[in-house]
Amino acid sequence: MMLHSHNRIYITDPKHSALLNKFASIESAFKHNAPLLSRSEQSELFKHEIGQQTYFIKRYYKSRGVLSWLGYSRFKNEIRNQYWFNQNNIPSAKLVSSAEQKFFLKTIKSFLITEGLTSTKDLNEIANNAPAFFKDFKRTYLLINNTAQILRQLHAHQFCHNDLHWRNLLVDESSKTTDVYLIDCPSGHFLPWPLFHYKRIKDLANLDKQAPKFLSRTQRLRFFLTYRGSQRLARADKQMIAAVIRHKEHRKIRKQKSGFALLMYQIKFNLFHQ
Ligand SMILES: Nc1ncnc2c1ncn2[C@@H]1O[C@H](COP(=O)(O)OP(=O)(O)O)[C@@H](O)[C@H]1O
Ligand SMILES: [Mg+2]
Repeated sequence: MMLHSHNRIYITDPKHSALLNKFASIESAFKHNAPLLSRSEQSELFKHEIGQQTYFIKRYYKSRGVLSWLGYSRFKNEIRNQYWFNQNNIPSAKLVSSAEQKFFLKTIKSFLITEGLTSTKDLNEIANNAPAFFKDFKRTYLLINNTAQILRQLHAHQFCHNDLHWRNLLVDESSKTTDVYLIDCPSGHFLPWPLFHYKRIKDLANLDKQAPKFLSRTQRLRFFLTYRGSQRLARADKQMIAAVIRHKEHRKIRKQKSGFALLMYQIKFNLFHQ
């Protein structure tokens, strides 16, 4: 098979030279044995420490779909987006390097490395394991403010994250300002209207999914007003909130339906395969 490789280094700081030597090629990254922190259909993630520095290395072992033959891949999108966040001062994990092995336009294998944000936890983990965080009104206020500012920045560029769940927001609990950072954005896109409008509502709905369990209505409203950069709700804001609520309800119904379909399948299976 005719394969060719591309490597890219984003931060040429000498503090990363040991890492860049260690993961200088696709082969070195794929041979490396380490306990996996996560694994999905196309990628897996592990951590690597060199001295005081921690890195997160995501290996993509597959690119799927017809479009992948035209050069589209989640890997490419993820590095493009993470790099754009870094360049535009949108708080995010810093890209250190990436490499891909291609067969014509199709990415066969690839990896990307980000600098570890070591004193952070993802917001989902905080919600599940340390919900007392939300009892601290000052830190919760800062969290709400920082997250709303990030989303405001993204949407000001007509960029939608498209996977804006709490697990993809890193929160630095140790910082006085409760800093928030973006990671893991392989489905984010710059979009034209009217697609932008629809996906913007989706971002808001994803973020709000777990919110009712941990935040008061006033805190959620504070988030929305900061996101809109306004003091009180205008007519357009109310319409937007209604659209977010509708989006969440539709998703719940879709999920229940698929749950029901699954139940029917299990009943049929048990009846006919005894
Ligand atoms: N640069 C980073 N700094 C700190 N933690 C990270 C970093 N990158 C990933 N993580 C941790 O690893 C988890 C999974 O990473 P992510 O990029 O979201 O992978 P996946 O595609 O498997 O969801 C995150 O929720 C976070 O806890
Ligand atoms: Mg993730």
